[in-house]
Amino acid sequence: MRVAVSGASGLVGSALCDLLRDSGHDVVRMVRGDRRLGLGEIPWDPDAGVLDKDWLEGCDAVVHLAGENIAAGRWSAAQKARIRNSRILGTQLVANALKACNARPKVFFCASAVGYYGHRGDAWLDETSGPGRGFLPETCVAWEAAANEAEAAGIRVVTGRIGVVLSPRGGALAKMLTPFKLGAGGVIGSGRQYWSWITLPDLAAAILHALANESLRGAVNLVSPAPATNREFTRALGTALNRPTILPMPALMARVVLGEMANDLLLASARVRPARLLESGFSFKYPQIAPALKALLARP
Ligand SMILES: NC(=O)c1ccc[n+]([C@@H]2O[C@H](COP(=O)([O-])OP(=O)(O)OC[C@H]3O[C@@H](n4cnc5c(N)ncnc54)[C@H](OP(=O)(O)O)[C@@H]3O)[C@@H](O)[C@H]2O)c1
Repeated sequence: MRVAVSGASGLVGSALCDLLRDSGHDVVRMVRGDRRLGLGEIPWDPDAGVLDKDWLEGCDAVVHLAGENIAAGRWSAAQKARIRNSRILGTQLVANALKACNARPKVFFCASAVGYYGHRGDAWLDETSGPGRGFLPETCVAWEAAANEAEAAGIRVVTGRIGVVLSPRGGALAKMLTPFKLGAGGVIGSGRQYWSWITLPDLAAAILHALANESLRGAVNLVSPAPATNREFTRALGTALNRPTILPMPALMARVVLGEMANDLLLASARVRPARLLESGFSFKYPQIAPALKALLARP
């Protein structure tokens, strides 16, 4: 396949591009800004609403991962607008370009997030569960709707509701490593909230599986089959690092340090099942949290 990827420099994008190339596919990186383009790179400018559809002509698949990092800073009104607009307007831009192509891709994969489900306690959730309430669920609903516009042109659209991506190279786990290595890790809030997670290698493999598997369309949860409570996660991370995890972070402190972001990213509970991924025959390399963290954090 010839696969165009936006957000290719990010945590997920760089792992996916490596996997695509290793699997024998051609990767076309969508590059923002005005830096000189290298081989296999095409320009786009989501802030200015610029994407020439000719660059995407003839691609077999497009994977859209670009968006303002959700944990880049406190969620001020301006930062929330950047998070939302970079996803919704960027996705509309890509979907419109795909619709205008003469040689359209067969499949458009657009990232979404388990943030779609909001704060749902310990109830199991699958792709048929409705959205939650608040900033993240509303952003995800509009983001997925923008991607689904490409269906009108006969393109198979997959919106991947991604869980907390685990990798020592970036994202949530990398941020937690320093305090945990110093022995300053512990449960956050009650510790009973469910975190639906997936390792970076399993996520890249699941996206490739979604591109190839024509039975998958619409929302697909990209999470391991065994979500962990924050307490289970904390214990597994302490064990993997061989460090104590006795310093809890009360919910109030998390809110003071991180603001509104703490509620939606650390204290919210969503116990999400990857129902469609499993039905379609995907098998996880790392389905359970303790062995997953051990493998990710093993020294080479
Ligand atoms: N990591 C997670 O735990 C997680 C969980 C759920 C959902 N997701 C979603 O999965 C996607 C990829 O996540 P990731 O962890 O790889 O994110 P990331 O590391 O922050 O990478 C996102 C990429 O998007 C581009 N980008 C940054 N700011 C942008 C902006 N303001 N407008 C447009 N593009 C921008 C950049 O790529 P270029 O400079 O190459 O354009 C950046 O490398 C995101 O949409 C994210 O919301 C991630």
